[in-house]
Amino acid sequence: MDKQTILTGITTTGTPHLGNYAGAIKQAIISSKKDDHDSFLFLADYHSLIKNKNPEEIKQSCLEVAATWIALGLDIKKTIFYRQSDIPEILELNWILSTFTAKGLMNRAHAYKSAVSENEGKSDSDKGITMGLYSYPILMAADILMFKASHVPVGQDQVQHLEMTRDIAQRFNHKHGDIFVIPEAMLEKNASILPGLDGRKMSKSYNNFIPLFSSSDQLRRHVMKIKTDSLEPGAPKPTDCNLFEIFKAFASDDQSADFKKKLEEGISWGDAKEELFLLLDSHLSEPRQEYEKLIQDPVNLNQELLLGAKRARELSVPFMSEIRSSLGIGKLD
Ligand code: TRP
Repeated sequence: MDKQTILTGITTTGTPHLGNYAGAIKQAIISSKKDDHDSFLFLADYHSLIKNKNPEEIKQSCLEVAATWIALGLDIKKTIFYRQSDIPEILELNWILSTFTAKGLMNRAHAYKSAVSENEGKSDSDKGITMGLYSYPILMAADILMFKASHVPVGQDQVQHLEMTRDIAQRFNHKHGDIFVIPEAMLEKNASILPGLDGRKMSKSYNNFIPLFSSSDQLRRHVMKIKTDSLEPGAPKPTDCNLFEIFKAFASDDQSADFKKKLEEGISWGDAKEELFLLLDSHLSEPRQEYEKLIQDPVNLNQELLLGAKRARELSVPFMSEIRSSLGIGKLD
C-alpha cells in the first residue's frame, strides 16, 4: 500500500475549546507523531472570511488556533503546518476547480441548503448568502487536492464536502488524465462530542463552551457553571451526565472508572465538579504555560507558519505548473 497522505484544515473562527479537543485535536496530535504517513495541517483562514469580516477577530483566532495546536504537542517537524493564505496556489486551483464543478452539485451542499431554508418565506431565498458560502466546498476541494491527500480526517458534518471533492477531482481526471489523487474521508472513531455548559453540543455557535486555555480560576468558574440536575448530595448521580462526558475525554480508563463509582455512590455535584476541574487543570496547566509563551510572541509563531508554508510550496508550486500545463494554460511552447 502506498504511504498515506493525511491532510486536514481548521477554520480559524473563535477560540479553541474543550469540544474541539475531544472532537479533533486530540487524535490529530497523536497521529502527527507517527512516522507511517505524510501529514499536512493548515489554518483555513480564507474559509473563516465567510463567517467573519472583523480583521482583529480573524487575526486573533489564527493566533489562538496556531498556538493551541503547538502547545498541545503537534509535531511540526513531521506535520507540515501552514496557513492557507500563505499558499497562493490554493486560490489558483480554486478557480480552476470551479470551472469543473457543476452548479447543481453546489446547490445540494448542506450548509448552503440550510442557509436557504432559513430564508423561507422571504421574497429572496438567497438573501444574505455570499458566493463564498455557496462555493465553500470548492475551496475545500482545492485545499485537499493541492497536496494529493489520500485521507482526510473530518467530522460527520464534512463528509459531504469530501464527496464533492471526489466528484470534482474525478471530473478533472476524466478529461485531463490522472492528475489528482481521489481522497477518502476518515471518520474519527475515537472522537467524542462533548456537551457544553447547557448540555447541548459544545460549540462556539451556542456560546456554551469552555475555552481550552484560560487561567486556572476561570477554568474552575466555567466548570462550576455546567448544568446538572437537582439531585441532593448522597443521591446516586446519573452516569450519562454532562460532567462525566467531559471527564471521560480527558481521563484514563482507571480515572473514569473511579469517577463513575463516585457518581453512583452519590458524590455531591459540587464535589464532582471540583474533581472534573482538577482533572482538566492537571492536563492543561503545562500546555497552558506553553500557550501563553506562544501567544505572547506572534512574530515567532508567524515565522513557524512561514516555514511550514515554504515546505508546502515546494510541493504546490511545481504541482500547480503541472496542472496548468495539463489544461493548456500558460507557456506557449
Ligand atoms: N471545512 C472544514 C471545517 O469546517 C475546515 C476545512 C477547510 C477543511 N478546508 C479543509 C478540513 C480541508 C479538511 C480538509 O471543519
